[in-house]
Amino acid sequence: MKYGYFDDKNKEYVVTSPNTPSPWVNYLGTPLYGAIISNNATGYSFKESGAKGRVIRHKFNSMSNDAPGRYIYIKDLADNDYWSSSWAPVCKPTEQFKSECHHGMGYTTIVSVYKNIKTETTYFVPTGETYEVWKCTVTNLGDTARDLSVTGCCSFVNHSSFIDDQVDLQCSLFLTSTALIENIVYQTHRLERGVAPMERFFSLADAKVDAFCGDRDSFLGLYRGYQNPEGIEKGLGGQTNFNGNSVGAIQSNITLKPQESKTFTYLLGQESLKNAKTITAKYKDGALANEQLQDIKSQWNEKLDSLEVETPDKNFNSMINVWNAYNCYMTFTWSRAASLIYCGLRNGYGYRDTVQDIQGIIHLNPALAKEKIRFMLSAQTAKGAGLPLVKFTHNAGFENTPDEDDYIKETGHPAYRSDDALWLFPTIKKYIGETGDTAFLDEKIVYANQNTPVTVYDHLKKAIEFTLNNFGDHSLPLQLHADWNDSLGAGAGAESVFVAFQLVLALDIISKYAAAKNDTEYLKELDKAYKKVSAGLNTAFEGDRYIRAYRADGKKLGSKDSVEASFWLNPQTWSVISNYGDEQTRIKVMDGVFEKLNTPYGAKLFDIPYGKEDIPGKMGMSYYNDYTKENASIFCQTQGWLILAEALLGRGDRAYKYWKEINPAEYNERAELRTLEPYVFGQFTEATGSPFAGRSHVHWLTGTASTVMVGAVEGILGLRPEADGLVINPSIPGEWDGFKMKKIFRGKTLFIEVKNPEHKQSGVSKIFLNGKQYPAALIQDSDLTDNAQIEIILG
Ligand code: GLC
Repeated sequence: MKYGYFDDKNKEYVVTSPNTPSPWVNYLGTPLYGAIISNNATGYSFKESGAKGRVIRHKFNSMSNDAPGRYIYIKDLADNDYWSSSWAPVCKPTEQFKSECHHGMGYTTIVSVYKNIKTETTYFVPTGETYEVWKCTVTNLGDTARDLSVTGCCSFVNHSSFIDDQVDLQCSLFLTSTALIENIVYQTHRLERGVAPMERFFSLADAKVDAFCGDRDSFLGLYRGYQNPEGIEKGLGGQTNFNGNSVGAIQSNITLKPQESKTFTYLLGQESLKNAKTITAKYKDGALANEQLQDIKSQWNEKLDSLEVETPDKNFNSMINVWNAYNCYMTFTWSRAASLIYCGLRNGYGYRDTVQDIQGIIHLNPALAKEKIRFMLSAQTAKGAGLPLVKFTHNAGFENTPDEDDYIKETGHPAYRSDDALWLFPTIKKYIGETGDTAFLDEKIVYANQNTPVTVYDHLKKAIEFTLNNFGDHSLPLQLHADWNDSLGAGAGAESVFVAFQLVLALDIISKYAAAKNDTEYLKELDKAYKKVSAGLNTAFEGDRYIRAYRADGKKLGSKDSVEASFWLNPQTWSVISNYGDEQTRIKVMDGVFEKLNTPYGAKLFDIPYGKEDIPGKMGMSYYNDYTKENASIFCQTQGWLILAEALLGRGDRAYKYWKEINPAEYNERAELRTLEPYVFGQFTEATGSPFAGRSHVHWLTGTASTVMVGAVEGILGLRPEADGLVINPSIPGEWDGFKMKKIFRGKTLFIEVKNPEHKQSGVSKIFLNGKQYPAALIQDSDLTDNAQIEIILG
């Protein structure tokens, strides 16, 4: 079933049926103040941290109408009928209640019409501010005057800490109280002088407050919920909260003549009373909210402006130009923290996740990427490994590491992982390619635990050294605490083929930097390292597949002889990405992937799931249901590597097929199957073999956004910038006649047209730059002009 459509012109997804198969959400705000909002206005807000800075409550694991949200109730005072400006929580029959939710870039607007009353509510967080705005315009579409009450309502937390608020009620229930002060429902906390400031407010800026309520139980009434609150049925009673739960509910009574409108601007945040008053006063007339909203829209237009594609596939365009890019920004901004599926308890950045996520925005905003790369380099230890968790309070140069007990105690991460620092190589390569900023390699940055700055080039050398210092008996890198697969858990002493391929790629990248620096001695070392890892990889090859790992007990994972999990996706795709071995082998293993792992929804992580075999105790993935999460699901992040690998092989049809299988927009017409938002990626999809094959989970904040972006942009579209210029080498479906791109590259706008007269899948036969045939595959930076016209002919 279809619940909505993509409006690319306005960069919106418009939900037209509110009863979506799961809450379909949007992210508002910045790291200062974030808000998650669903198409039915549910969700939560937080200051800085999803786990420790909660402002309003959300009930996890509940469908929309059971979860508090940012509700605005409308009541017809003539007949006492009431509804909400979002379909839920009141959920009037959809035949009578017409609604559209426009999720846009940094704002969400819900437009509803019921019994001739239209409400249009826009939610946003003004840039740089630490509160949110709900601007609701109520219009009488009918031809008789209507007496209405309009009530804005939110559910404050009692404690900023999610855990304390939800489960430590013996304490958190007894901390706050509410009061109405002018037009503000103000929630205060006894421990104002304590660790976290816990003052929150909900106010109405531009209309008269006729009644209010600050106590949740009085607002809802006994044995009722947000779908039928007593406070709406009877009118708000002015109760305040003391030793219970708070709401902020503010009611205004109005009369609307035919065609008349009235706007209500509500403000919500965690601020002192003084700040709340100042903030509220600013919104007395509508101008500021409108300006701020415009500002958010233009900022997003600018952020997404660096690449615009026009291919024959509308879904592809919607994703690359708008939603995949937005998803990448959100994952980049929020790391893998707060969503409707995770409370954001991880108070820091995962090393691998963050370095991977940077890749998704490099082509859009290299300056922002550079800042984060610097930060992540400053979180590499002097040994060369990444800190598994980089605390939000990261103090570069002075941090403790997994070698010290206090780090382990504080973060819960007991040891280094083998892959973390190796992600730096493709990320830095992409950054240098996008910008030409090779000088970055000479920039000096400290290590996490050593306050003497060393060059980025030395940081990379250290990462190689760390990997080479941790090799096992089969001449492969040790998996250590984990490699990319957090729940492989093959035991201390296990060796990872996946990381071996990461190392091959890293060696290739650093060799080029070493050659440019005439670092000949080091080049010899790199050559030795390559031979060492090749020896391991060659034994890990079984004729049609690379195995996945050697367990600590020496047993192979992902071997022909394995009873379960005998064929794995990642080692095969990474053999191509790292350009290892001969082309015939690369093709053979990738054909194996197609035959053995592909499903209509993407390729499985491996097959068959773990469950019955002798499994070493720590193998977390065997814990999951079959074809779920790391236990043989379609783990979506890996699909980006799959797309990239096929594109690098020049097999455009396959690359595109895999892209379509995983692309959320492809499921727009049958959204009930996938259940997640058709405009964002999820972490995994249940594979065939599950009774719910095709259903996806863990929305929004996932490495999938960046890997699929890279697979599409670098792989399918073939934008492969190098330090000294641009290579455009597309791998497209043979059926495409071609496509166009507008790309901002190093400050110049390039207009690129790819023509495919012979319906090839790849292979550039001619390049024209500003009308003249260009003699090489790499277009030198110095030859590129602003507004350059580039024509690429496949054939
Ligand atoms: C999750 C984690 C990521 C890990 C992956 C596979 O996405 O965030 O770090 O690589 O699972 O286990």
